[in-house]
Amino acid sequence: MNRIFLIGYMGSGKTTVGQLLATQLGYGFIDMDNHIEGKLFKSISQIFTELGEDQFRLLEKQCLHEVAEFDHVVISTGGGVPCFFDNMEYMNKQGITVYLKLSSADLAERLELSHANKRPLLADRKGEELLRYISEALTKREPFYSQAAYSVSGKIESTVSQICVLVEGK
Ligand code: S3P
Repeated sequence: MNRIFLIGYMGSGKTTVGQLLATQLGYGFIDMDNHIEGKLFKSISQIFTELGEDQFRLLEKQCLHEVAEFDHVVISTGGGVPCFFDNMEYMNKQGITVYLKLSSADLAERLELSHANKRPLLADRKGEELLRYISEALTKREPFYSQAAYSVSGKIESTVSQICVLVEGK
């Protein structure tokens, strides 16, 4: 199958890994959050504020079905995508799913620096509160993420090469 879905929590590196992986494989690259923002001409934060999370999750599902029509493509999914509706099952049917697995501590460290304004669910959480929030969210999300065909951990470059080996070995 020539369609790769990268899944994982916010801050796990799906976009960075996805872009590098797509270049290396000669595939196209789609970031689902960007795709939704481009369609609605609104940022993810605006969509959450103006339409609410339930509506956002419906838009995400719709977007997933649109992008899953493309071939030879790496798709970086939003962190919540696998955890709503039958999205995880759908992705497993439509392509190769890869979970970018990081510890809560590593995610908190990355998100502390980068999340300002971009990620409505994290709002102004910082330090211990941010870490606690991520740990609790991961406990709930892990049963979905762990349905991925493959799980990879480590630094960006090593993650990209691990996925290349998995995909090209198919
Ligand atoms: C979300 C993750 C975000 C974005 C939205 C909700 C989530 O995407 O879709 O803020 O529920 O985990 P990234 O994982 O690309 O940050």
